Amino acid sequence: MPNLPFQAPLSEIASHIQPFRVMKILGEAKALQSQGRDIIHMEIGEPDFPSLECVHQAAFEAAQLGLTHYTPSLGLPALRQKLSQFYQTFYQANVSAEQIMLTPGSSSALQLVLTAIVNPGDNVLLTDPTYPCNRQFVNLLYGQLVNVPSDADSNYQLNLALLKQHWQPDIKVVLVASPANPTGTVIEQAELMSMARFLAERNAFLIVDEIYQGLVYDRPAESILANHPRPDNIIVINSFSKFFGMTGWRLGWCVAPKILMPILDRLAQNLFLAAPTPAQYGAMAVLEPNALAQLELRRAVFAERRDVLFNSMQAAGFKLKVMPQGAFYLYWDVSEWTQDSEQFCQDLLNKTGVAITPGTDFGEQEGHHYVRLAYTTDSEQLIEAVNRIADFIKTIKD
Ligand SMILES: Cc1ncc(COP(=O)(O)O)c(C=O)c1O
Repeated sequence: MPNLPFQAPLSEIASHIQPFRVMKILGEAKALQSQGRDIIHMEIGEPDFPSLECVHQAAFEAAQLGLTHYTPSLGLPALRQKLSQFYQTFYQANVSAEQIMLTPGSSSALQLVLTAIVNPGDNVLLTDPTYPCNRQFVNLLYGQLVNVPSDADSNYQLNLALLKQHWQPDIKVVLVASPANPTGTVIEQAELMSMARFLAERNAFLIVDEIYQGLVYDRPAESILANHPRPDNIIVINSFSKFFGMTGWRLGWCVAPKILMPILDRLAQNLFLAAPTPAQYGAMAVLEPNALAQLELRRAVFAERRDVLFNSMQAAGFKLKVMPQGAFYLYWDVSEWTQDSEQFCQDLLNKTGVAITPGTDFGEQEGHHYVRLAYTTDSEQLIEAVNRIADFIKTIKD
């Protein structure tokens, strides 16, 4: 056989998957840092705090006891039970353990749930801007995206009026996040429930991504599951990544109608077998009252940072359209200075060492003139970042 060069026969769909640009900025910021540059990281969407000591302890103890094997695909029964109790205690929500499934990050929960629902060609409605991976999950299933532009007038969120306006009979599922990434905005429960009922009447699912649940400021944490009665078309996605500060442990969960559970179970058995076992033992500890009290203190730190960032931006003369109600992001319209948010972020990083994320990751329609700032660094750094941004803007103006 002649020694022919290998021409990798790759799938077509893989070539259509868009990069998550924040990872590129993060890589570049880290490269500059390793050259000795002073970098302020406001690009990546994860808490800067390490996971709690009790998590490490619980995972370590489980490992020492030899509990390092696969768990059932739906997750450790004790953890599913504990989450059911968590909903009862904190949200007065009746959620049976049988409806809860643990997954490797909520990313896998989103993929599983969409795989269980979406046929090639089915319509999936998302808001624009949105968490970007959602679009790629739909693309992987050959689903069709219905992007609904949202702006400051609707708190950058979907609402019943927008849903009605963009409704098409072949929409099978609508996916929202509250609080949302990249805007930190919240959908009120009454609005969510009216959308859930509208969709139930049309035989469509509502997926509510509650991954930033717990990270809300000036208002109590909420879950759509606390509403009674509620229609059977609601699926909730959640994670130990954000409020619980366990991004690297890769553990999330979903709460789905009973009818979906055997399908989700079968999919999980094939796709990843089970969520990581040490992470599940660690999560048992993070749901204990003393751990939750520590996380509450961290929430207060995020609340303070939000105020520091928002107020410093305003003091620098920057217009902000909405005060984020949760998560740890500020979505900022930079159209006064650019229509190319990627170049803006690139130049800002190179010239000032402040790493932020271009809106093109999140918004197909207007992302080119938005950027996302993550307040996942301390207040002092946030103030310094705003000063550097203000200096940078002056160089554009001059
Ligand atoms: C809205 C939203 N959903 C889901 C995820 C996925 O997170 P994880 O897989 O760590 O649970 C993220 C991560 O940033 C997010 O912002």
